[in-house]
Amino acid sequence: MLLTEIDHVAIAVKDIEAAIDFYRRMFGAEVAYREVVEIDGVEEALLKVAESYVQLVTPIRHDSPVAKAIEKRGEGLHHIAYRVDDCADALASMVAAGATPIDKAPRPGSRGTLVAFIHPRGCFGTLIELVQEERRLSERAEREG
Ligand code: CO
Repeated sequence: MLLTEIDHVAIAVKDIEAAIDFYRRMFGAEVAYREVVEIDGVEEALLKVAESYVQLVTPIRHDSPVAKAIEKRGEGLHHIAYRVDDCADALASMVAAGATPIDKAPRPGSRGTLVAFIHPRGCFGTLIELVQEERRLSERAEREG
């Protein structure tokens, strides 16, 4: 089994302040991380739920993939992110099994993670993100001395 945990469920929203406020009022949820990810053209707010996150994500540019998703399908579930021990290994394994990668190699995500996206085509319509946490990187570095 490649997947160790659900890292986050990402919800595309137009107004991130309104969405944060909703989660605060409904669930008493607080923002654990907040970050602009320039390369993806988004701002994210991460709300911790046990060891996972709800990720509220809003576009900061018109050409951002999240802007296009909201234009096409409206607000709502955008992708699911599965935590893995080794992003490169998991990506290679999925590609070998026939999945279509969006990222050819792992790249930096938010919170110092390494991530890779898999196209929803062939994944039952779900955009999948593989996430390797930084602590996994440092654990491996320690192990390997
Ligand atoms: Co994500």
